[in-house]
Amino acid sequence: MDAKIVLLPGDGIGPEIIDEGERVLIAVAERFGHQFEFQRCPKGGNAIDSHGTPLPDETLEACRAADAILLGAVGGPKWDDPNAKTRPEAGLLALRKELQLFANLRPIKPHRQLIDASPLKREILEGTDILFLRELTGGIYFGGSGVKEHPSGEEAYSIMTYNTEEVARIVRLAAKSAQLRRNKVTSVDKANVLEVSRLWRRVAAQVMAEEFPDVEYEVVLVDAMAMHLISRPRDFDVVVTGNMFGDILTDEGSMLPGSLGMLPSASLGVSGPGLYEPIHGSAPDIAGKGLANPLATILAAGMALQHSLGLSDEAAAIDAAVESVLEAGHRTADIAAGGEAISTAEMGDLVVAALQP
Ligand code: NAD
Ligand code: IPM
Ligand code: MN
Repeated sequence: MDAKIVLLPGDGIGPEIIDEGERVLIAVAERFGHQFEFQRCPKGGNAIDSHGTPLPDETLEACRAADAILLGAVGGPKWDDPNAKTRPEAGLLALRKELQLFANLRPIKPHRQLIDASPLKREILEGTDILFLRELTGGIYFGGSGVKEHPSGEEAYSIMTYNTEEVARIVRLAAKSAQLRRNKVTSVDKANVLEVSRLWRRVAAQVMAEEFPDVEYEVVLVDAMAMHLISRPRDFDVVVTGNMFGDILTDEGSMLPGSLGMLPSASLGVSGPGLYEPIHGSAPDIAGKGLANPLATILAAGMALQHSLGLSDEAAAIDAAVESVLEAGHRTADIAAGGEAISTAEMGDLVVAALQP
């Protein structure tokens, strides 16, 4: 197969982890006889510096023309001035919106080799296998915002909106995903307080009852979900929720596999390329030191093969290579639990080696 893959290294640890993701994809192409063409484009803070905007037109056009997009991370202290006229993160939101990537899949399945890397107890973790479906192009991220005068100075607002169609399509995808798994959907909202969550809950209930009567369905309030996620994670199969709740709960969920550096994600739309990225950020505290765990990015590359290129065997080969490297005891610092740690590039080397036939 010939495929065009756009790489958006971004900022902070982004370039370090994207290097490893690319090497793993090259190893897959060699082993399975594919031609992957890679194109690196500026995006995020580095693009603000070079082009004055976090999502240059050429980058967006390259992404539109790609089969899949692999992103490192964007942002960092250099671009954090609250008075700045644009931010690296705005470019990421614009890319998601432009490509209509409404569904963000964030699987959380602790690797059995890493149970001791998690702050949670083994008996809580064992058997956990959750697929978070985070709505990605609506909610408070896109409902409009502003700042106005106020007697005390100023008042700022960010509006959370959801419409029927936005809720229905993500809930539908959650139910279809559940049918291929353990047949259970948990919808997370804040319907005891927010009008927007009451619409979410009505629409979700209707879709589930009318279209998926055989799929087990429950609703949980987001504050309680934050607790259930670490007290009884095994009980959840597919969890569907809005943009901001999903953002927060999945960073919390990264403590189940033990590190943010272990969690990949796929952002999918109706058609067109998917965007694949680790769920973590640019980790400015460890950037440039070779300390970053590249496995979330490598696993995200596997999700790209699976979801955008339809290469299931190749995706499984990446997962198996990661498993075998963990099985052999190799750890970056974030998952070493105080033991011996290897560098970003060494971890990449080992996964590439494990992919050799
Ligand atoms: P972060 O996710 O970058 O880091 C949180 C903590 O996790 C840090 O201690 C970091 O060192 C650690 N960490 C993250 N990824 C790791 C990895 N692969 N290996 C080892 N340790 C890892 O969150 P933050 O510090 O709050 O945010 C930093 C910047 O990243 C901000 O500008 C934020 O907006 C941005 N961000 C970007 C994305 C994205 O591009 N998708 C996602 C989240 C945050
Ligand atoms: C993520 C990040 C982004 C988000 C930021 C960087 C815009 O935290 O991908 O989880 O909030 O969606
Ligand atoms: Mn996040």
